[in-house]
Amino acid sequence: MALPKINPSQTAVWQKLQTHFETMQATSMQDLFASDETRAEKFHIQWNDFLVDYSKNIIRQETLDLLLNLAKEVQLKEAISSYFQGDLINQTENRAVLHTALRAKASANILVDGINVMPEVYSVKNKIQNFSNEVISGNRKGFTGKAFTDVVNIGIGGSDLGPAMIVEALQFYKNHLNVHFVSNVDGDHVNEVIKKLNPETTLFVIVSKTFTTQETLSNAETIRSWFLQSASQVDVAKHFVAVSTNIQKVTEFGINPDNVFPMWDWVGGRFSLWSAVGLSISLVVGFDNFDKLLKGANEMDEHFKTESFDKNIPVILALLSIWYNNFFGAESEALIPYTQYLQRLAPYLQQGIMESNGKSIGRDGKPVNYQTGTIIWGEPGTNSQHAFFQLIHQGTKLIPTDFIGFKQSLYGNKDHHDKLMSNFFAQTEALLMGKTEVQVKGEFEKQGVSDEKADFLLPFKVFSGNKPTNTILINQLTPESLGALVAMYEHKIFVQGVIWNIFSYDQWGVELGKQLANSILAEIESKEVKSHDSSTSFLLRKFLE
Ligand code: F6P
Repeated sequence: MALPKINPSQTAVWQKLQTHFETMQATSMQDLFASDETRAEKFHIQWNDFLVDYSKNIIRQETLDLLLNLAKEVQLKEAISSYFQGDLINQTENRAVLHTALRAKASANILVDGINVMPEVYSVKNKIQNFSNEVISGNRKGFTGKAFTDVVNIGIGGSDLGPAMIVEALQFYKNHLNVHFVSNVDGDHVNEVIKKLNPETTLFVIVSKTFTTQETLSNAETIRSWFLQSASQVDVAKHFVAVSTNIQKVTEFGINPDNVFPMWDWVGGRFSLWSAVGLSISLVVGFDNFDKLLKGANEMDEHFKTESFDKNIPVILALLSIWYNNFFGAESEALIPYTQYLQRLAPYLQQGIMESNGKSIGRDGKPVNYQTGTIIWGEPGTNSQHAFFQLIHQGTKLIPTDFIGFKQSLYGNKDHHDKLMSNFFAQTEALLMGKTEVQVKGEFEKQGVSDEKADFLLPFKVFSGNKPTNTILINQLTPESLGALVAMYEHKIFVQGVIWNIFSYDQWGVELGKQLANSILAEIESKEVKSHDSSTSFLLRKFLE
């Protein structure tokens, strides 16, 4: 069944939310907390080793009830069933959306065109496992008989961001293999990577679902030419493997068909790290850890699929985000992990969230009359505190923020972890409570600040607070908890796309630039500027001068 085509702003509950918003926008969370000591008890979800406290949001029970009704009115439950059972919900590309099948149990029965995909999923998983074991153990060797020491992932977008984020996040679990990522078509990027490598001991993983992406093919060709300066054509088969749906193009590139890891058109690029696109993850943290990552994601899938909406983490996070985006007019959300390991989580989710839900045409083919996709940004705490937190605390924009922290660090350095986590808790408290005039005056008195100076400084030192945050507290950063965390955001994206009545799994918007780049490249190469707008023609002529 296709997803329903319901304009959320035409639902009865949307109007009620609008009316409710008029009162809530003047409500302060400080008052809500003062009048209800059990607020955190009410507004949190404990699931496995995840604690999600969403009490620091500008909501009452009535808000949640209305938002949950919205989910009902847009038929979210039915949409979730369609998503998991492989219906063609990506209608503009006539595809199912089944990254969840990649982490489902072998016994699952998930049909695409009437055929259970699980045997094929597990056969590719076995191939990933065998290949990873061979490389890690050193049994698989390069063209001079040496074991591999380095792995280079050549891909872009979903064929780069996921593996790069996970490999960074799971550094603690890493083996002896060094890993590198080449994505940008900028030749300086590939050259900087190449200069660190020894062709005899480097394995190249070309990842491209379509195997037509300009950036990836250019980088792969440049690297192959560099490799061939030291090796011969037959050695390419030993050092280059590919992950793609386009077996024909991969073979044309010179890759041995045995070294091709298939994927399927029902896996979107930005949701593909769970497939063979994650080969570099499996290589550098081992297949067992890769499998644990998948297991954690599968547990989140089960939670999302089966839990009632009022206790369902992705659903609640999505509804809160809609509350701010569509009623408060918040344009962006920040995501602050309190671990350096997750420094690439925000860039990774930028593709997931913004490529999926950056759409302005509804599933009914008409322009939407409300805001869709949020802008996502963030950096790890505490670095971000010393960079952009000023704007979140005292700027004019409302920026709902997710704080992600862990009870235990990985190396067990208690002193550092206590300091890190005290900042984690302090920030959400400060964003909630702010600092009142009375508090500031009290501080001035204690410090003996003169009246004149105090009067001047007072307005600058007051913090209004009332800034919404979600706190996601997890026991430890493990492959399982990371898998669950990423899946949590994937399902949040899905819920929001369903409610906004948009197609979240296509990305036509990135096509136009690609097409124009191809024709401009021909003009640059021939030095013949054709007809463009006057600015582009002017710039091209200057570039060619
Ligand atoms: O940016 C557009 C996009 O199509 C992404 O969705 C995808 O992840 C990326 O390009 C790379 O595509 P491919 O894996 O086919 O090279």
